[in-house]
Amino acid sequence: MGRPKITIVGAGNVGATAAHWAAAKEIGDIVLIDIIEGVPQGKALDLYESAPVEGFDCRVVGTNDYRDTAGSDIVVVTAGIARKPGMSRDDLIATNAKIVGGVTDEVMKHSPKCILIIVSNPLDAMVTMAHRRSRLPQNRIVGMAGVLDSARFRTFIAMELDVSVEDVQACVLGGHGDTMVPLPRYSTVAGIPITALMKPGRIEALVRRTRDGGAEIVNYLKTGSAFYAPGASVIQMVEAIVKDKKRVLPCAALLQGEYGERDVFMGVPVKLGAGGVEKVIELDLSPDEKAAFKKSADHVRSLVKVLPA
Ligand code: NAI
Ligand code: 2OP
Repeated sequence: MGRPKITIVGAGNVGATAAHWAAAKEIGDIVLIDIIEGVPQGKALDLYESAPVEGFDCRVVGTNDYRDTAGSDIVVVTAGIARKPGMSRDDLIATNAKIVGGVTDEVMKHSPKCILIIVSNPLDAMVTMAHRRSRLPQNRIVGMAGVLDSARFRTFIAMELDVSVEDVQACVLGGHGDTMVPLPRYSTVAGIPITALMKPGRIEALVRRTRDGGAEIVNYLKTGSAFYAPGASVIQMVEAIVKDKKRVLPCAALLQGEYGERDVFMGVPVKLGAGGVEKVIELDLSPDEKAAFKKSADHVRSLVKVLPA
């Protein structure tokens, strides 16, 4: 029985960092592919050379040739441009739709049985683009955003209450953008809802910081966007699948009637295991939460209208 084969498309900040987390967790052999010659090869070899020090047994290969990705079990797509200060994720759509469309065609040619995880932004539109080109079923195509957005919310809650992040759970639904829907009612510290631990004004401030979490990092970095937490977040999803952990994580999944929505990718809690998205978990939402979710779905629908065929 061989190790799972994980391809990461895009050897930039997020792709290379994801490869690093994957190797450190020893979850499979890694292929890093990019259009720039030398960069995936150099980063992959450098990472591979850390194996004796860190003690992981995974092969790490860098390439510009999709034939090296053939037969991958999981493919993570991070290819595309990242935003700079003043840009929204939605400003990336035209450039990244072309990139993600082309990448999806190549991936499907060489790994028709893979589970595809999209990271490129604007996330909800890019996972839609990859779905249109791949026609993969609901369980085999998913986008990463909710794990990152809820990790940010968890970090801010732990900072505010001065408690371990390990004891903080948070739930963020909806699209990856200004219309994301953090759910304080379903966010807890050791099982206690944060609504019982913090004043509404403080919760609102943390919700706002979570919504603006990507921009906060962009404004510091100026030359690009976040990558440590995004890399870790997508590898948590990969790990759940390769180890069949059946983790319940917020991910951008294709809704087919769940939450009253159809044919739209939205951030919702899903069960992630060997079958990919094994189940979309439906939460009971209050009227306000329902309205925020609907607004987010409408925004995603308006965004995907401008996607090329
Ligand atoms: P980056 O610029 O560091 O890396 C992107 C890489 O993609 C570059 O190495 C580039 O050469 C490569 N690339 C471009 N076209 C390609 C193609 N056709 N085939 C293969 N590789 C190609 O950008 P970074 O920071 O790694 O971000 C990548 C994407 O992920 C961006 O769109 C960013 O907005 C998005 N992102 C999404 C997050 C999420 O939560 N969903 C979180 C963080 C980033
Ligand atoms: C983030 O939220 C840029 O989407 C990326 O950091």
